[in-house]
Amino acid sequence: MFEGTPKPSGLRKGLTSYGDEGFSLFLRKAFIKGAGFTDEALDRPVIGIANTASAYNACHGNVEQLMVALKRGIMLAGGLPMEFPTISVHESFASPTSMYLRNLMSMDTEEMIRAQPMDSVVLIGGCDKTVPAQLMGAASAGIPTIQLITGSMLTGSHRSERVGACTDCRRYWAKFRAQEVDEEEIAQVNNQLVASVGTCSVMGTASTMACVAEALGIAVTGGASPPAVTSARMRVAELTGQRAVEIAKSKLGIEKILTPKAFENAMRVLLSIGGSTNGIIHLTAIAGRMGIDLDLARLDQMSRETPVLLDLKPSGQFYMEDFHAAGGMPELLQELRPLLHLDAMTISGKTLGEEMALYPPRFAQNVIKTVQNPIFPQGGIAVLKGNLAPGGAIIKQSAARQDLMEVEARAVVFENVADLVARLDSPDLDVLATDVLVLKNIGPKGAPGMPEAGYIPIPLKLARQGVKDMLRISDGRMSGTAAGTVVLHVTPEAAIGGPLAYVQSGDKIRLSVKNRELTLLVSEAELAQRVKRHPVKEPSAPRGYLKLFLETVNQADKGVDFDFLRAKK
Ligand code: FES
Repeated sequence: MFEGTPKPSGLRKGLTSYGDEGFSLFLRKAFIKGAGFTDEALDRPVIGIANTASAYNACHGNVEQLMVALKRGIMLAGGLPMEFPTISVHESFASPTSMYLRNLMSMDTEEMIRAQPMDSVVLIGGCDKTVPAQLMGAASAGIPTIQLITGSMLTGSHRSERVGACTDCRRYWAKFRAQEVDEEEIAQVNNQLVASVGTCSVMGTASTMACVAEALGIAVTGGASPPAVTSARMRVAELTGQRAVEIAKSKLGIEKILTPKAFENAMRVLLSIGGSTNGIIHLTAIAGRMGIDLDLARLDQMSRETPVLLDLKPSGQFYMEDFHAAGGMPELLQELRPLLHLDAMTISGKTLGEEMALYPPRFAQNVIKTVQNPIFPQGGIAVLKGNLAPGGAIIKQSAARQDLMEVEARAVVFENVADLVARLDSPDLDVLATDVLVLKNIGPKGAPGMPEAGYIPIPLKLARQGVKDMLRISDGRMSGTAAGTVVLHVTPEAAIGGPLAYVQSGDKIRLSVKNRELTLLVSEAELAQRVKRHPVKEPSAPRGYLKLFLETVNQADKGVDFDFLRAKK
C-alpha cells in the first residue's frame, strides 16, 4: 500500500525526499487524510487544477462556478480533482505592466505542476497574460495538460449603443480627450463597459489566446467562445474535467499536442481572427518552451494567404458573444480547413481533422465571413523589416488606416514614457497629422516589461482638430483591443542600442506595408556618428526579480521569455 511503483502515478508521483519512499507516501497520505479523503478516493488518477481566482482579477470572477462543473466532470470520469493556487495577473492591476509578471507566473505554474503529484493538469485562465503563462509553464513541466478558458464578459449599453471592454474604452476616452463627451457622460460610460465578470468582449489578447488554445488542440472543441456567465461555459468546464481524466489515463502528453503543426494552425487562426499582436509574442514563447522556433518570415508568408474572416472589434464590428452565437471556432475552422494541418493531435485523442468531421454543418451568418468575402484580404498582422527594425517589427494591418500604410513621414520623437507624458499634450509640440510619432524605450528591457504603451494617444491639439489616427512606431506592445496605424515590437529595442535609439525628431521614416518595409531615411555615416555621440547604457538592477528580468529577458522575436526558460534543443 505504501510501496513505490516503477512508473508512479497519482499520489505516488514526485514523492518528497526523506530517503525512504514508503515513509514519504505514508506521510503524504496521512496529511491528505486530514482533509477527509479515503483510500478509495486517493487511488484515483489525480487531476491538478491551477486556480487563478483573485479578488484583483474580475476576468476570472467566475472561477468558483467553473470549479464546480470542472470537478463534477473529473469525478464523473473517475478522477480526483486537486486544486492549487498560482499567481494570477490582471491587465489593469499589475504594475508596471502585466507582461513583466508573465514569466514569473509561468515559473510558478511550471514548478507547482512539477512539485505536486498529478497525472494531468487543468489550467484555468483567461485574462491576457494568464493563458500564455500557464501554457508556457505546462509546456516546460511536460505532463498531460488541458486549458480551460474563463470566457468573455457580456456587452453593456450606453444610451442604446452597445459597448464592451476595451475597444470602446479607448474610443470613448479619445472622445473625452477631444472634448466630444463631458465628465458626466464619460462616468456613465465607465459603468457600462464591463457588464459582467469575464475577459474583454472584443478580439483582444484574451479572446485571441482563447481561440489560439483551441486551435492548438489543447482546449476542448468549442471551448474558446462561450461567455463567462453562460450555461455553455459551465458545460465546457464539465467536459474539460472529463477530458482531463481521459488524457491522464491515456498519458496523452503535452508534447504530442504542442507540435510544429499545431503552432502553424494557431498562427493561421491568429491571422484569420484579426487577433492581437500580442498573440505572436505569446505563441513564440510557448513554442520556445517546446524547443520550436516560430519564424516571423513564415508568419508573414502565411499572412499573405490567410484572410481575416472574423468581423469582431477592433478590426470589425461585433463582440465575442456574437462569435459564440455564430458557431465559434468550429465554424471558423471549417472555413479555414484547406489551410490547416488536419493531422495535428488534440486533447480529445482525435486529430483536428477527426474532430472537424464531428462538427455541425456551416450555417448562414454574418460574423464569420467566407474566404471569398473576407473582412480583410490578408492576415491581420504584417511583418516589417528594414534598417529601423533589423530583427523585425509588426503592424496590425487589418485595424490600420489604409492611406497611412504607404507613407514617408517626419518623426516626432519621445525618448520614453515620461517624456511622452510631459510633452504630448503641450500646445507647443511641433506636430502635424501627417507626422509619425516615435516612442523609444518601451521594449522588453526598456520600460521594463514591454508595456502596452505603443498605442500612443493622438496629441491633444490634433485630437481637438478631429484627428483620429496617425502613424505611430515604438518598441513596445499595444493592447489587442486597440485599433490604429501602429507599428510595434521594433527589434532590437532602443534600450539595448537598437537603431530606434538613434532616431531624432525631424528624421524621415518610410513605411510601406505593401513592401513590408520600415526604413529610417538617415545615412549610415550619420547614424554611426549618433551612436558615437550617445552610446546606450543598458538598464540594470541591483537585486530581485527585476535583476533576473533585465539580465535574462529575450527580445520580442524570441517571445520576451527568459533565456534560461527556453527548451534546450
Ligand atoms: Fe482581462 Fe481584458 S483585462 S481580458
